[in-house]
Amino acid sequence: MSNFDSFADFRMDNHVAIVTGGAQNIGEAIARTFSGAGAKVLIADLNGDKAEATAKQIEADTGNPVLGTACNVTVQKDIDDCVAKTVDAFGGISTLVNNVGWGRAYEDPLAVPAEEMVESFKLNTLAGMAMTAACRPYLLKAENATVTNSGSLVGTLPAFDFIAYSAAKAALNHLMLGLAHYFARQIRINTVLIGTVITPGYADAGLDEKAVEALSHPDNLTGRAGTPQDIANTFLWLASNAGSWMSGQTLQVSGGGKRVRLKPE
Ligand SMILES: NC(=O)c1ccc[n+]([C@@H]2O[C@H](COP(=O)([O-])OP(=O)(O)OC[C@H]3O[C@@H](n4cnc5c(N)ncnc54)[C@H](O)[C@@H]3O)[C@@H](O)[C@H]2O)c1
Repeated sequence: MSNFDSFADFRMDNHVAIVTGGAQNIGEAIARTFSGAGAKVLIADLNGDKAEATAKQIEADTGNPVLGTACNVTVQKDIDDCVAKTVDAFGGISTLVNNVGWGRAYEDPLAVPAEEMVESFKLNTLAGMAMTAACRPYLLKAENATVTNSGSLVGTLPAFDFIAYSAAKAALNHLMLGLAHYFARQIRINTVLIGTVITPGYADAGLDEKAVEALSHPDNLTGRAGTPQDIANTFLWLASNAGSWMSGQTLQVSGGGKRVRLKPE
């Protein structure tokens, strides 16, 4: 019988987490994984009914308290209500996951209307800033306080047919890096550059079946697309004490794949 528990640092007992966009897919996996590690979790999602149903299911799966609430992360009043609800229910906030985000494909990057660029920044960049500001007083009182963001690989690599989303995710990386430095020694802040995780969201973004099929077989080092759990495992590491030496990082989790060859192929 071993006296050493390799998973002890990954436990999230005594943590209270808000996961935005946690009603489905990647956010749901993050909420379930934190809950399974012992955290109390509030799922804040535009789709309040689905947030509640997902919360109920996760609570049944893990035995730890999970709440779901309707919240549009681009609306300040909704953010304030969600933070107040979390503190009322669970007594504080130690862990924020800014997971909401998405965009729309355009063939010509210069055809994207300016309003859509602005909307994309509101959803993908500014919502994370507003959530962090609203949680700040509670994070500053918590042990192992963290903000972890769902960024995207296209926030660092060119994706000209997804430019509004890419530019806003790139801005998120820089914003969060700045905040990590501002909150040094108080709040650890990291952003995960997520690669291709096939979800129904791809069809909503305007990609046809053929494009989704191609994305499902990416040319990366693992030879497969990611799963929500692949991403949630990284979030658990970063948000738990296991990640306590990690801050100010933009970390690629994508199956790997950027190649440099000295000789032409
Ligand atoms: N799926 C991928 O391949 C992939 C790749 C890179 C980055 N990401 C990022 O990961 C995150 C999650 O991706 P996903 O594929 O699970 O997304 P998804 O579209 O499946 O789920 C997003 C959730 O956010 C909610 N939501 C949307 N707008 C909201 C708002 N204004 N306020 C509150 N909730 C809102 C939706 O109701 C939904 O439940 C996003 O930030 C996305 O940009 C995903």
